[in-house]
Amino acid sequence: MRRPAARQLALVALAGALVSTGAAAPPPAGPGGIPAKVPVAAGYGGAVASVDAEASAVGIAVLRSGGNAVDAAVATAAALGVTEPYSAGIGGGGYFVHYDAKSRRVQTIDGRETAPASATPALFQENGVPIPFPEGQTSGLGVGVPGTPATWKSALDSWGSRPLGQLLRPAEKLARDGFTVDSTFRAQTQQNQDRFKDFPATSKLFLPGGALPVVGSTFKNPDLAATYAELARKGTGALYRGPIAEDIVRAVRKPPVDPAATRIVRPGDLTAKDLKTYATKRQAPTRVGYRGLDVYSMAPSSSGGTTVGEALNILERTDLSKLSESQYLHRFIEASRISFADRGRWVGDPAAEDVPTRELLSQRFADSRGCLIKPDRALTSPLAPGDPREPVACGGTGQAAPTTYEGENTTHLTVADRWGNVVSYTLTIESTGGSAITVPGRGFLLNNELTDFSFAPAAPGVPDPNLPGPGKRPRSSMSPTIVLEDGRPVLALGSPGGATIITTVLQTLTGHLDRGLPLVDAIAAPRASQRNQTTTEVEPGLWNSPLRAQLEAIGQAFRQNPEIGAATGVQRLPDGRWLAAAETSRRGGGSAMVVHPHGRP
Ligand code: GLY
Repeated sequence: MRRPAARQLALVALAGALVSTGAAAPPPAGPGGIPAKVPVAAGYGGAVASVDAEASAVGIAVLRSGGNAVDAAVATAAALGVTEPYSAGIGGGGYFVHYDAKSRRVQTIDGRETAPASATPALFQENGVPIPFPEGQTSGLGVGVPGTPATWKSALDSWGSRPLGQLLRPAEKLARDGFTVDSTFRAQTQQNQDRFKDFPATSKLFLPGGALPVVGSTFKNPDLAATYAELARKGTGALYRGPIAEDIVRAVRKPPVDPAATRIVRPGDLTAKDLKTYATKRQAPTRVGYRGLDVYSMAPSSSGGTTVGEALNILERTDLSKLSESQYLHRFIEASRISFADRGRWVGDPAAEDVPTRELLSQRFADSRGCLIKPDRALTSPLAPGDPREPVACGGTGQAAPTTYEGENTTHLTVADRWGNVVSYTLTIESTGGSAITVPGRGFLLNNELTDFSFAPAAPGVPDPNLPGPGKRPRSSMSPTIVLEDGRPVLALGSPGGATIITTVLQTLTGHLDRGLPLVDAIAAPRASQRNQTTTEVEPGLWNSPLRAQLEAIGQAFRQNPEIGAATGVQRLPDGRWLAAAETSRRGGGSAMVVHPHGRP
């Protein structure tokens, strides 16, 4: 098959990258026997990449003991619920994409949180006026029915080979024995300190003695250990009915706020029935062909698959490997701008909205939109959306509307096993620190996922498919991606970062596939994120680069964002080894591990 020329280059460059990052040797053990964080590793027997070394180690142990990629992904996710409690956990939701080596099929689980049955489009409005985002964020109103426990059950029932109870055990032990606080955990706690101190259960857990956790200290969460033990004994259904469910409903309906707090904390209307009736959804993945590869991702309710897919279809018409760096970035920014304009107009929960998923992914629609891009002149935002059902050449047909606000957060893990099964799994509690409401006595934070809904239409008179509704799933940007070549996985990746997830995944894919960057370098590359806004967010690496002036000269405009995303991925090397890759520095660096770094077992 046609392998993208730049990908060949990336594979050749890989040997050098592995040597320069020390991936040829197994990671040395850090304090307490925990493997040190390394951003890239290659070897046999399977691979795990996540943001956290203890979580990756849990996944590797499952693979080493004969578990498959799904078993390892669930165990890793449960561990992340302990060590990354502000990004993900059983109080949140996510999207699970799985490649099954036997059937060679990619399948997905939509484990997105849902709004209560009583929700209306005015959920975040008072007297017809949207409430400020922070008031929705720190409230019971923003809490959706968690989908993560049900996702684990659904994944294990379909493809797992180990019982849930066994897979939860390492995370339960981690919660009970504790993990070592690092500077990222402390900084994330500090960022939330004002909110956390208003909820006694949250402050007792995350601000021990009223202070920030000290770097190097051991952080224990016995309540979460007990909750995991209960789920292990009774199954994940225990979160949806019974005492844990009752505690969740109580915390949402009557948020456990410190009586001395001055903050307005609105209650939500989540009921026991909302929890009892929650179900994950199985749906076909999105698929686009890209330079001879098949790129699979998550269909709506996430906008990840359609938006990355549309942008790839636009970009495929240009040989990105031959462009200067500034022209490559220009095309990437413009394709992102266009596909975000279309995302805003057309993507919402397909159970409640008429979402033209197939049409958004058609090459015909991409061509009708891609011809707006000029090499010497940037488009301006907000850009009007096109109509994928009736594409008009070089045209936008609707009224332009800005992209609504979304926070940046979440976590992504990627796993491959010795049989060739792959999992790409993004999970979240929405904001860093979620709603700030810890379920008293249960050790986990509740999400604020419903704030991913538009609080009001993005522009007056413009249809917005992402308004709240009964039982509706808020539009997500999560883009867990698996890339196949001739039906076999060659790459899988994803990232946190709210709506910047889409641009991070797109930039990483094109950086690796087209620009010849080894995966770890494509992940580390300085980010740009254009989301149909007047300015494109860039990290300091681009802000301080001469590329900025070159792009400004053709009309691009920028603003700074200190850090965008925190991707992880795995790659199948031509010699049959797996390579795991993670961040070199964002969020304190990620953790890439393989089962047998030295060679075949
Ligand atoms: N809450 C982040 C996302 O769903 O994209």
